[in-house]
Order: sequence, then structure tokens, then C-alpha cells
Amino acid sequence: MDVVRLELNIGVVNMATGRRKIAVIGAGNVGATCAFVLAQMKIADIVLLDIFEGFAKGKALDMSQNSNVLNYNGTITGTADYADIAGSDVIVVTSGFPRKPGMTREDLIGKNAEIVSQVGEGIKGHAPNSTIIMVTNPLDLMTYHMQKVTGFPTNRVIGQAGVLDSARMAHFIALELNCAEEDVSPMVLGGHGDTMVPLPRYTTVGGIPITQLISEDRIEAISARTASGGGEIVKLLERGSAFYAPGSAAAIMAEAVLNDRRRLLPASCHLTGQYGLDDVYIGVPCILGANGVEKIFELDLTDSELESLQGSANFYKGQLKELLGY
Ligand code: NAI
Ligand code: 2OP
Repeated sequence: MDVVRLELNIGVVNMATGRRKIAVIGAGNVGATCAFVLAQMKIADIVLLDIFEGFAKGKALDMSQNSNVLNYNGTITGTADYADIAGSDVIVVTSGFPRKPGMTREDLIGKNAEIVSQVGEGIKGHAPNSTIIMVTNPLDLMTYHMQKVTGFPTNRVIGQAGVLDSARMAHFIALELNCAEEDVSPMVLGGHGDTMVPLPRYTTVGGIPITQLISEDRIEAISARTASGGGEIVKLLERGSAFYAPGSAAAIMAEAVLNDRRRLLPASCHLTGQYGLDDVYIGVPCILGANGVEKIFELDLTDSELESLQGSANFYKGQLKELLGY
């Protein structure tokens, strides 16, 4: 097994430069943040692609001029041409409209589905061996749509939601306990929307379940604030949605795949019977490595937790059929 993974890693090295390559589609708030975080990881050359060429080129140049200050390794290129993503090992897709106050993520579906179709064709044509990390909302639906457009194996099309939603929960727990953020191990499953499923029983601080550290009513309040975490920021910003934590979350998923880290993270994965769910993308714990989703874990859930997860997935299944015709 180790030998197979080694071969895959060798296979993804850019033969011209000897370096690996990550493309970020969409040079807006989330895409640019993701590229910036990846640059600081010094793990690959980065290509930033946007439909507005100057926007992508300008941001790439700005970040490149930071290379000396922050001591980056590798190049950051801006483009509108899909030929430039050829040879990418991992592609983070952030292109699409963000929410405005009063909008749900699902309100974005029509316009963003068209964008994802266009981007998916570009990826399929120019980087057919890449692994895709989806960010565009509504996340679980757009991840499903991207898999259909590209025809990539489902393990190579993954949605970013759980890392961000869990990080939000971790932050609220750290505030509650006045403890270090790094000691919180959160777990949020389900869709990236109002139906997400924070799991206090599987959330620990220094190995201790939060159910032993925080009162039930405070846990409920933290779970509710987590579920509306994106909306809270949309309301404050008044123009657009969160991007620092989302861009960083997508970057750590890309790094997990690129470096075959085999990290256990919650992500939107294609289910084939797990949790009683079939042919739907929804947030579950998985191992991310060189092959994308290497393994999906089925947690032992209470009836009410399972009902919430199935309710979330069935909501998206209904939307896939009703709004996207799947
Ligand atoms: P933004 O408006 O700042 O950036 C979007 C970029 O996509 C723009 O630069 C735009 O020119 C580009 N774009 C539009 N159509 C394109 C096309 N056909 N090809 C290439 N580029 C195209 O928006 P922001 O804040 O970066 O959000 C991007 C998306 O990510 C939104 O759909 C937002 O809802 C979603 N999001 C998802 C999160 C998650 O956790 N999954 C968290 C935060 C945002
Ligand atoms: C967020 O959760 C809007 O999905 C975006 O911040």
C-alpha cells in the first residue's frame, strides 16, 4: 500500500519544474485567501484562475511580491486560461456568488450551478487526474454537480464544509471554557447549511467530551451559533460572506491530499449506503490522503443524531432532484 501511495506522489510532480501544483478557481475572497494560505505552506506552485483575467493576475502579482517578505517557495500565477491548470494535483473551486444578507446558501443554486458546469468542463479538459476540493455554495449540491460534470471518481471530488463548521464550533467552545483553541477537537456532520449536525458527544477538549465540561443549555446555544455561524458573519459584513476561515479550511484539505497526510476530517463525501444514505454528498468523518477520500467512518449515532443527519441529507436529495434535475 505504501508503495502505491509513493507512486501516486511521484506521478503528481510537475515534470518540467519538479514541483507540485495546486489550482484555485475563483480569485475572490475565499479563493485569494486559500491561495495565500497555501503559498505560506510552501508546498506547491499555485495557479489562481478567474473569469476576470486581470483580477486573477493582479492578486497573483500582489501575492508574488510578498514572496520576499514571507519567504515563499514556488510561483503564484494569475490566469483566465484553463490551459494553465494542466498538471494540477489538487484544484480548489471557489468560483461563484456568495450570499448577501437575507439569502440562504440554497438561494445561490441557479447561478452557481452554471458556473460549476463551466469550471467542471475546464477541469475535465485540462486536469483530468486532479482531485477537486469544492467550496462554492450551496456546498453539498455543488459538490454533487461537479462530480457529475467531470465524471471523476467520487473519492476525487470532495466538499469543504465540516472543517469550517467544526472550527467555528471549536472557537465558541474555547470562548466558553477560556481554553486554548488547539485543545478542542470538534465534530460537525451533515450539510453545510441550517441542517448541519454539531455532535457534542464526539467533541472533546483535551480528550474530555464537552458533555462533561459544559452545561446542556450552553452546549445547545453553542451548537445553534455554529449552525448559523456563516449567517452571523454575512449579517455583520453586509457585503459578501466569510473568507478567512473558509479559505484556510480549503487549504488544509488541499494540503492533506497533496501530501498524503491521511488526516481524519469531516468533509462532504459521496455516500453509498453509509448511515442509511445513498447517492448524496453530505458531511461525514473521513480520511483525506493522496486518493482524496481514502475511507469514510460510520459513527455510532443515537437515534436523534442519526435522524438529524438523515434529515439533512434528505433535504439536499430533494433539492438535487427539484432544482438540478438529478
Ligand atoms: P467572491 O465573489 O469574492 O469570489 C468569487 C469569484 O468567482 C469572483 O472573483 C468571480 O469573478 C469568480 N467567478 C465567477 N464566475 C466564474 C467562472 N465562471 N469562472 C471562474 N471564476 C468565476 O466570493 P467568495 O466570498 O470568494 O465566495 C465564493 C463562493 O464560496 C460562494 O459561492 C460562497 O457562498 C462560497 N463559500 C463557501 C464556503 C464553504 O464553507 N463551503 C464558505 C464561504 C464561502
Ligand atoms: C459560510 O459558512 C457562507 O458558506 C459560507 O460562511
